[in-house]
Amino acid sequence: MTQQVQGWQFLEDGTFLLNRPEATKELYFPLANEAGMMAAITPRLHGDSKTGQHHFLLPPVSVEDLHNTKSARNFWFFLDGYGPWSVTGNTPRQILAQEQESVSLRAGFLWHQITRENQALGLKCEVTNLVPANEDRVELMKVKITNTGEREVTLTPTAAIPIYGRSADNLRDHRHVTSLLHRIMTTQYGVVVTPTLIFDERGHRANRVAYAVFGADGQGQPPVGFFPVLAEFIGEGGTLEWPQKVVENSDDFRGAGQQIAGYEAVGALRFASLRLKPKETKSYIIIMVIGPHDTDFEALVRKYGQESAFDQYWQANRRYWQEKLARLSFHTGEQNYDDWLKWVTIQPILRRIYGCSFLPHHDYGRGGRGWRDLWQDCLALLLIEAADVRHLLLNNFAGVRIDGSNATIIGTKPGEFIADRNNIPRIWSDHGVWPLLTTKLYLDLTGDLAFLLAEQTYFKDHLTHRAKAIDQQWTAADGNKQKDRHGRVYRGTILEHLLLQNMTAFFNVGDHNNHRLEGADWNDALDLAPEKGETVAFTSFYAGNLLELSRLLAALRDRLHLETVELATEMMILFDSLAGRVDYDSPSAKRALLNKYFDSCRHTVAGTKVAVKIDDLIADLNAKAEWMVQHLRKNEWVINKEGFAWFNGYYDNDGQRVEGDHPKGVRMTLTGQVFAIMSGVATDEQVQKIVQAADHYLLDKEIGGYRLNSDFRELKLNLGRAFGFAYGHKENGAVFNHMAIMYAYALYKRGFVREGRFVLNTLYRHCCDFAKSRIYPGIPEYFNAQGRGMYHYLTGSASWFLLTLVTETFGIKGDLGDLIIEPKLTKDDFGSGGRLAITTYFAGRKLTVAYENPEHLDYGAYRIGTIEFNGQERREITPGASVRIKRELLTQLPAAQELNLVVVLTANRDRIN
Ligand code: G1P
Repeated sequence: MTQQVQGWQFLEDGTFLLNRPEATKELYFPLANEAGMMAAITPRLHGDSKTGQHHFLLPPVSVEDLHNTKSARNFWFFLDGYGPWSVTGNTPRQILAQEQESVSLRAGFLWHQITRENQALGLKCEVTNLVPANEDRVELMKVKITNTGEREVTLTPTAAIPIYGRSADNLRDHRHVTSLLHRIMTTQYGVVVTPTLIFDERGHRANRVAYAVFGADGQGQPPVGFFPVLAEFIGEGGTLEWPQKVVENSDDFRGAGQQIAGYEAVGALRFASLRLKPKETKSYIIIMVIGPHDTDFEALVRKYGQESAFDQYWQANRRYWQEKLARLSFHTGEQNYDDWLKWVTIQPILRRIYGCSFLPHHDYGRGGRGWRDLWQDCLALLLIEAADVRHLLLNNFAGVRIDGSNATIIGTKPGEFIADRNNIPRIWSDHGVWPLLTTKLYLDLTGDLAFLLAEQTYFKDHLTHRAKAIDQQWTAADGNKQKDRHGRVYRGTILEHLLLQNMTAFFNVGDHNNHRLEGADWNDALDLAPEKGETVAFTSFYAGNLLELSRLLAALRDRLHLETVELATEMMILFDSLAGRVDYDSPSAKRALLNKYFDSCRHTVAGTKVAVKIDDLIADLNAKAEWMVQHLRKNEWVINKEGFAWFNGYYDNDGQRVEGDHPKGVRMTLTGQVFAIMSGVATDEQVQKIVQAADHYLLDKEIGGYRLNSDFRELKLNLGRAFGFAYGHKENGAVFNHMAIMYAYALYKRGFVREGRFVLNTLYRHCCDFAKSRIYPGIPEYFNAQGRGMYHYLTGSASWFLLTLVTETFGIKGDLGDLIIEPKLTKDDFGSGGRLAITTYFAGRKLTVAYENPEHLDYGAYRIGTIEFNGQERREITPGASVRIKRELLTQLPAAQELNLVVVLTANRDRIN
């Protein structure tokens, strides 16, 4: 009989409890800090711990490795009269049936605790792991054993933490040879491994990083000895699941001060045997370190190697993360939702730390984030983090190339972009859209229009003409910054960078006059249509961006009283309407113009600038955008035989339209709809039609989410690898949360509030339905065909969820610095209570906005009636569907003063819907 699956439940402050966590495969939890220690941990303490692709302390694991526990963190007690017991749950099943033990997980920000109780043995053990929120690259583990039985027991403790100590590349590439590089040393408290070399056949280098495992008992007493060589620890024929030295309770351990060379290592630390009376407890602290070879390890042991120290850092961790997360909180009347949202809020921070590479599902990439993720994560980070976002954004623009494309390898420091040494000349067609989206949010929140006039360099490497040509004159010695003809580093304004990204896109079209798909777009898996493929989806986005840029130019003119802006001389080619407009209906004319521009800046730019009238620029941008909107509405609106209608999103590599009726079944993508809606390309009637079509062809009724595409039933080698994936998985028709939530955002933005809410609400409910989703609180990248949450934590879904909730549902948004309050809350959002609230920051002030809906009105039936501002009604604020609060009204208050707004909704005589 299958046991009923019980999900997690929140305790307090977002801490959650899950009983029998081991009964679910593939669960993992992140432990990390800003210093770059990145760990993953499972209920059996599997998972790895690293600072980057080349520095893994524990052996690197993919999700499929998690059910083999061979290389998990382990801690054993040899119980006299019984034998070995693994408190991390890694005693072989033949020896110990899982049912004999009760196991529960508690986890919070950011710590992980497993409690295992074995009634037959009369022992209970709590194992707590965390990465302290400070500058140290360490993972800490506390093992607390309690005698719950009725007789005194004698125990011999042994910690066993495998030390891999090298690059993930060596997992199979020279795994054995690289163990010959290991230099293992025992110290008073543990085992240190310092490989001699970083193994790289392109040129081996001296290694300067050490990997260590130390331990002490709760009072700071060192271990009595060590089994640092893996083969010796497990014994001939042994395994890490049944290591000979533990099984035989052997005491032929080594002492401190020994040096051993050339073997796989393990942080196997033997502690003194102890007698534990009933109810007595004893604790052990394990410190796992990745650090420079000359790290003062003793200092780390002094810092962390006692129970009191561990507890203190545990508290500090909770405080650190709670304070960070308190910058954005929701009070929705549903405590479970408020708590769950905390886990969504931490996700963009986790992706800033882990990039897209370092959790068990994310076993690709070599660290860092992609360009689009960098910008989209900033959306939420703008809402959550108080850091110097201006500086961060400014630096990000240094990745733009003068041809409008961008560097794809992003360094760890802000503004560090690296040339792709793999030499894969790949350009993503969507990359140009994201910086404007994020910059616009920044400008709206701050009013810092002058940011558009700040100057930044451009990225330069051997690729030019959007990777269609190579700049033979460029050498690595020239450096990665674009230079002018005189060899000077060229700088242009942020506005110029943005214009370049979006204007080049206008001309970069395929035969159907839509943006070329190039290497792929947002959907990374549409990567097999580089010649004739087109992304209609992103053509819409670019159209919206051109209109947005034109509005920003108007703001520069009106608010900063500028008549002209300076742009690189070469760019005048792109403002064709100012001097003899090319025929926009002609893809070849557009491409010829683009090539002319590319040729003009193939190697260097002139370094000269022209002052262009803002009004002229606006006219040019509007003309282009208007043309695009008309073109899309006229040529890409698909009506099928069943009477549904939506936008075609793509052309394949044979130049064939992808969406619509097809002999193998109707073809529709969600991506094709989302950006048409978001950008305003779709009219209101079209949005209505799209919703009907999406509900018919894409809605997964069980999960409640929208699939990325219908089933094409064809291996479309002329579109992308996606169609090689099984249908219902990842980029081939899964409920892909990132896109589904962008759909929700777009719907809200266009006033389709109930439809948008449906998307968010059903995804949330599914995430919390543990029996199906099988994930800890938070939002995963997608749900697979069985509804299981996949690729948890590191996903742009979280940023978009928060952005939607803050700026659309709760309607707290900026407009070039002013605060706009425009709620799109439904009656259902209010539930049975009449009050909802959000706490965020605006203009540097902590802002809480509470909505009261005494008449239980639905969206469309209410307007803002009154606003109370720190206890006082403000009549000068004009009520309506939305209200504007001038920035000055906020900034004139002391920075430390919290703002509490109470917004009362009242019946709207002119209903919106
Ligand atoms: C992931 C990638 C993102 C890409 C998407 C679709 O999404 O990180 O860059 O656009 O797949 O291929 P995410 O994990 O952010 O949800």
